[in-house]
Amino acid sequence: MKAADERFQECDALIDTFENVTKHPIVEQSRVYYTGVDLGTACVVVVVLNEQFQPVAGAYQYADVVRDGMVVDYIGAVRIVREMKESLEKKLGTELLYAAAAIPPGTASLDSGVIKNVVQAAGFELTRVLDEPTAANAILNIKNGAVVDVGGGTTGISILKDGVVTEVIDEPTGGTHFTLVVAGALHLDFEEAEHYKRDPKHHKELLPVLKPTIEKVADIIKRCVAGHDVEEIYLVGGTCCLTGIENVVEKYVGIPTYKPKNPMFVTPLGIAKSCTKEIIM
Ligand SMILES: Nc1ncnc2c1ncn2[C@@H]1O[C@H](COP(=O)(O)OP(=O)(O)OP(=O)(O)O)[C@@H](O)[C@H]1O
Ligand SMILES: [Mg+2]
Repeated sequence: MKAADERFQECDALIDTFENVTKHPIVEQSRVYYTGVDLGTACVVVVVLNEQFQPVAGAYQYADVVRDGMVVDYIGAVRIVREMKESLEKKLGTELLYAAAAIPPGTASLDSGVIKNVVQAAGFELTRVLDEPTAANAILNIKNGAVVDVGGGTTGISILKDGVVTEVIDEPTGGTHFTLVVAGALHLDFEEAEHYKRDPKHHKELLPVLKPTIEKVADIIKRCVAGHDVEEIYLVGGTCCLTGIENVVEKYVGIPTYKPKNPMFVTPLGIAKSCTKEIIM
């Protein structure tokens, strides 16, 4: 078995490249561009890959257009995605045609229509819709274990056995709840607490304050993996940027838990990597 760090080498390198190209896009000739749109509760991320599936541009914006995986501000969501698309097209000097999108597991019948409409209304040809943890695994390439995406609004889990997803669940607990706890504990308003929480300098101080909320997430994981043969847990999603979250989860669930260097962009990169030229839905 590969050591955890070695396992994340490719993923970490890809994320480094992505973070670079959000600041300095790579303008080059590519026959085709693949775009991933991650319309999250806390953050909208757009990733552009070239024909070799390497990141060439990207952008992210905190926005309040989705709640618990449901689009609550349709017009706002379309506007944000369209503006991000246009801005990236300008930087790259090309039109972005194809896009993939993801939905929290279990919401397919409820909301995938709305997510699809947002991406299409923003001007993309939507070629693929998949669930979030499965998208994340397009980058992690886990064969056995659980991939857990703790985003802003929800925690999505997919369990893999021999490379095949055997179970997916999504429950409404995520970073927004963490922010509310920070706000309450430090007497800050939501926005202040959100910024305070994201600053790694504050993570050591916040970990004990957030431990019960992390354990709530860990309890969701524990219930989901019960009865499955899960030997490793992989954390992704912005909330897992919290320093030390993996140790609290590991201790509570009792299964070795790992995360890449920057877990926030794994799912958006996986969505883009899953984008195709032909429609697969
Ligand atoms: N450095 C950080 N430390 C702690 N939390 C962070 C950090 N960076 C981002 N977050 C949190 O991550 C969350 C956003 O993560 P992400 O972008 O994965 O969520 P999302 O995709 O918008 O939500 P969801 O998947 O639930 O719809 C927010 O709650 C944000 O506060
Ligand atoms: Mg997400």
